[in-house]
Amino acid sequence: MNTGENSATATSGPPDLPQKSDWRFILIAIVSGLGGLLFGYDTGVVAGVVLFLHNVFHFGASMKGLFVAIALAAAAFGAAFAGALSDAFGRRSVLMVTAILFAAGAMLAAIAWSVPILFLGRVMVGAAIGVSSMITPLYLSEITAAHWRGAIVTINQFYITVGIFVSYIADYLLSGTTNGWRWMLGLGIIPGVILLISMTILPESPRWLAGRDLITRAEAGLRFLRNKLDVSVELSVLRRDVVEGTRLAAPWSLLFKHKMRRPLIVGIGLAIFQQVTGINVVIYFAPSIFRAAGLSSTSASILATVGIGAVNVIMTAVAMRLLDSSGRRRLLLWGLWGMLVSLVIIGVGFMVQLHGALAYIIVIMVAVFVAFFAIGLGPIFWLLISEIFPLAIRGRAMSIATVANWVSNMVISGIFLNLLLAIGRGPTFLLYAGMTALAILFTLWIVPETKGRTLEEIENNLDLADN
Ligand code: GLC
Repeated sequence: MNTGENSATATSGPPDLPQKSDWRFILIAIVSGLGGLLFGYDTGVVAGVVLFLHNVFHFGASMKGLFVAIALAAAAFGAAFAGALSDAFGRRSVLMVTAILFAAGAMLAAIAWSVPILFLGRVMVGAAIGVSSMITPLYLSEITAAHWRGAIVTINQFYITVGIFVSYIADYLLSGTTNGWRWMLGLGIIPGVILLISMTILPESPRWLAGRDLITRAEAGLRFLRNKLDVSVELSVLRRDVVEGTRLAAPWSLLFKHKMRRPLIVGIGLAIFQQVTGINVVIYFAPSIFRAAGLSSTSASILATVGIGAVNVIMTAVAMRLLDSSGRRRLLLWGLWGMLVSLVIIGVGFMVQLHGALAYIIVIMVAVFVAFFAIGLGPIFWLLISEIFPLAIRGRAMSIATVANWVSNMVISGIFLNLLLAIGRGPTFLLYAGMTALAILFTLWIVPETKGRTLEEIENNLDLADN
């Protein structure tokens, strides 16, 4: 996959974005948010939806698990093929098809009259989530300049949490209405349509066009994006970058070199630990967990879930401020310790069955768990995988870590309800606590500190040429 990573060399040249007052800037800002927002909305929304599937389609634990997991499986597929598709057809065309898939899938799931149609809708939405989670940041990093890349990565995680929060509010407002679950799923049409309209207006990535020698179109695109006629300086930087990129492009076999071992273990390891420590069990099933803990009604448990969504957004914003001053490794460890303690309390709480107080303790400890995830493992995994891999192979290595993340998510979320039935609530959460303890050991063992180092410094330490 020939991704846009090499544009990191384009440090000089004209300003990389239109002025804030320019409508182009607003359009780019909207698209920056949409990828994450759709990811968050379309995954988070199931928290409310699953509560109704029992009555409508007579779903038991296994079918509910399958309903959640099927979109995640499709997302893993989408993420796996996104890079190759966007190399072949262009970032813009792929994003436009993705937007249609988002809207059509949401529509189908919303009007579903049978289980296969419901599942087909969710597969379409899932595939779209997977593709856009890879291509939106790629497209944005190519139409803006290098120093925006880090910000795009963390802002993306912020928007994911905003999307989850918005989906919880929709769940809450619609939970009392007839067919409310259909509206919950159907609202996903709106951001899909906005993405489609925005992409109709925005140009194809000039970098991708330059890579195919479509220089006139690349130039027209740059003129549009920068809102000026003379883009010759930037165009020549771009062409130089593309040539350089082809020269630097490493073969797949580089992945198996000795010096790639550490970054790959870190990337794939954190991808898996981010999921097996149980975050999405909370994100997708919080209302069900709160009901099981004794919260009196469905709407009270969805309201508590809205609170969890708010904590997630706020703490992610805090993390964005802390990341540079505290360092990634330290924040990651703090976050993991906090998650461990809260998971142990949740697990033990369910086991000793403190009647009356249990519901409150569980709600509070779930909020604490989410808060510690949001300042650590949540954003830091996505940030580290954009930092630790050498330029020449970054796109492919990031895809591998992303797919590992979706697959682990699918397994953990898909089996959660059955796991509860098989071993009970307390042991299930203690299992996640055990995974968190392993994640702490893993971090102490191998995760590097990347704070304050440039991508080039990180890469030079890997010393690829020697192997
Ligand atoms: C991270 C995870 C995602 C999770 C979200 C919760 O983005 O990758 O799976 O749903 O955080 O905030």
